[in-house]
Amino acid sequence: MLPPTISWADGRIEMLDQTALPRLRTVSVTTVDGVVDAIRRLVVRGAPALGVAGALGVALAARTLDGDALAEAAARIGAARPTAVNLSVGVRRALAVADRGPDAVLTEALAVRDEDIAACHAIGARGAGLLTELCGREPLRLHTHCNAGALACVEWGTALGVVRSLHEDGRVAHVVADETRPLLQGARITAVELASIGVAHRVVVDGAGPSIIARGLVDAVVVGADRIAANGDVANKIGTYPLALAAARAGIPFVVAAPESTVDVATPDGDAIEIEERDPAEVLGTGTVLTSTQAWNPAFDVTPHDLVTAVVTERRTWRPGT
Ligand code: MRU
Repeated sequence: MLPPTISWADGRIEMLDQTALPRLRTVSVTTVDGVVDAIRRLVVRGAPALGVAGALGVALAARTLDGDALAEAAARIGAARPTAVNLSVGVRRALAVADRGPDAVLTEALAVRDEDIAACHAIGARGAGLLTELCGREPLRLHTHCNAGALACVEWGTALGVVRSLHEDGRVAHVVADETRPLLQGARITAVELASIGVAHRVVVDGAGPSIIARGLVDAVVVGADRIAANGDVANKIGTYPLALAAARAGIPFVVAAPESTVDVATPDGDAIEIEERDPAEVLGTGTVLTSTQAWNPAFDVTPHDLVTAVVTERRTWRPGT
């Protein structure tokens, strides 16, 4: 059993430090600067977990700040990473009740957390039902990217919530997890989660993903999302789009599992989604490249809605491509 992703402990935010995984280390955050730093460095990461971190960050700030100072702190937390819409949703929800005092802000932040837990369980069950409908009842060979599991949420997970629901029923043959360069969320985090629940899995280099699909070695792709535009275009970890292309070509389902809070109706399509550019050192810091070499490090890509078989949320199965 892994420690919780994020929790509130008497005026502190406890986070499992995801930069250290597979080593288990928990950090305690007590300041707004600490929250912003933890989000930027991916101590806490994954869209739903970022929503909870944002809301708890505002709850932390509300213990010592109010008015414009609190609004400014909330804005800094909300801007720590741009692509996952859940972060700003969580921050806005907590800030919206600030005039009722710090306890009300904390209650709202804990509601964001509890709603995420409920949403993930509902997504898992709905996604398992959909994959049964699309692929049949035989144990499935599933392919995922990055980490959309309990550690990207509060518990259970979205894409890995679907895997868990199928696994409870003995219906997962194995999971192929892309390693997810450059920060290795697949190799370091998804593999840890799958091992902790006894799901057979193999990690592959990102470049192998599409050809594994083309060779008929998986039955379906299931991934999470950082932001889903109104037209169903999906932003997720860089390297998701090639899997969607390969799945379409192979004629297998490409399913996106995400809470309604990841659907951003104010963003019309994928072109309007801001893609986070991270430090090139994350790509180059391997000690194997020339010091003069430059890099480009977009953290997310956009899968157009016509490649998405279905978006599964806690409330609906949405087929944006049809
Ligand atoms: O940069 P990260 O690790 O925060 O990126 C996470 C992802 O891309 C996840 O797939 C997404 O947030 C969905 S998490 C349920």
